[in-house]
Amino acid sequence: MSDTLPQPPLNLARGWPANNLFPRQNLQDSAVAVISNPIVSAQGLGYGPDEGHFELRKNIGTWLSRNYGLSKSIEAERICISGGASQNLACVLQVFTDHIHTRYVWLVEPIYHLAFRIFEDAGFYGRLRAVPEDENGINIDFLERAIQSLTPDSVSSTSERPYGKTYSHVIYCVPTFSNPSGTTMPVSRREALVRLARKHDALIIADDVYDFLDWTPSAAPGSTRHPLPRIVDIDRTLDGGPATPFGNSTSNGSFSKIVAPGCRVGWAEGTPEFAYALSQAGSTRSGGAASQLMSTFINDMLENGSLDKHIRDALLPTYSRRALTLEKAIKEHLLPLGVTCGLGPEPRSIQGGFFTWIKLPHSLDARDIADRAAQEQNLSVAHGNIFSVPRGSHPGNDLRCRIRLCFAWESEELISEGVERLALVLRDALAGLCL
Ligand SMILES: Cc1ncc(COP(=O)(O)O)c(C=O)c1O
Repeated sequence: MSDTLPQPPLNLARGWPANNLFPRQNLQDSAVAVISNPIVSAQGLGYGPDEGHFELRKNIGTWLSRNYGLSKSIEAERICISGGASQNLACVLQVFTDHIHTRYVWLVEPIYHLAFRIFEDAGFYGRLRAVPEDENGINIDFLERAIQSLTPDSVSSTSERPYGKTYSHVIYCVPTFSNPSGTTMPVSRREALVRLARKHDALIIADDVYDFLDWTPSAAPGSTRHPLPRIVDIDRTLDGGPATPFGNSTSNGSFSKIVAPGCRVGWAEGTPEFAYALSQAGSTRSGGAASQLMSTFINDMLENGSLDKHIRDALLPTYSRRALTLEKAIKEHLLPLGVTCGLGPEPRSIQGGFFTWIKLPHSLDARDIADRAAQEQNLSVAHGNIFSVPRGSHPGNDLRCRIRLCFAWESEELISEGVERLALVLRDALAGLCL
């Protein structure tokens, strides 16, 4: 390394959508269409309704119903517009939890790390608890035992709150193409989780932000087979439907990964009672839903079909090629060093999302490898401990020898090069172990 030029930086850590895939032209067309329409632009530029732009709520319902192949279509009343999944998570916690009545936040581990502070800001500092994940997602038996082992709660609900419902527990997960492990929960696991949530008065917050990035051949928008039902779909129909008017789950949806994160538009779905109560969060009620103008642009993209086309023709082909490139490079350069992939005994091919989750051999320390990759190879990778639940991690986890690799951000060529650079670091570290 010493007298050669520094290598250009490579980033397999960043979990962002590729910025050269943003639908600039579609957004420009929709912006022009909206701004030049006096009625729609007046709606977009003014304060909006608390639940968000009505047309967008209606069109999201139709779009979801079509793409998930639902027999019972989703009405606008089930949808509340948000400023993206992160902002919505904060609002859901403000409305439906209370740091006295709500006992714990149970998070599948490993999990999206930037959610931690949102929970802590909502009063749950020190009350986050990890639930281990296997190749089919959250470990239900573990969660059931953990909740049952709690001493009975003596605190009664705080009935003076305006929203009508405060849950006793929160369960947070990313059921499809999870961040960081890439795991997808099968339907049976989703059903079991809904039953558990109903039994223990828990709210499942499912970040469904990667569902549309699914290149299982049959799942693309407009095809006749569909992605797995979301937990909120299951809660709607399982065993005769929701146990209470508010249900036990919400889908936290976002346009960040399928349009562009700077739009800051997302949606929450739940029962009509849930969606309405959510829209009454103080910061929403003062001025209406977030991102009102951008909501009108995205609504235009849904109405003219350019969003589905963008996902089908730009995102899915590019991300699936990048994922395949990453898999090939891992197979060629990392598996021979003893690296393994995923959570199960056999590696599964990457079918969607942004990430894959590798395990280092011989208990190599992933944080150390990530530091060395940055210093010696100008390569960023995310080590597993980033995704462990603060002050509530599961002691048996293997996160210290895990690395998350993202295939969304870099081009195919740079993904291959990144994996080669990582292999050099690992080879060096393994050689050091033999000294
Ligand atoms: C699981 C998960 N939830 C939420 C977000 C952020 O979503 P948004 O941009 O809509 O706030 C991300 C982004 O990486 C994510 O991976």
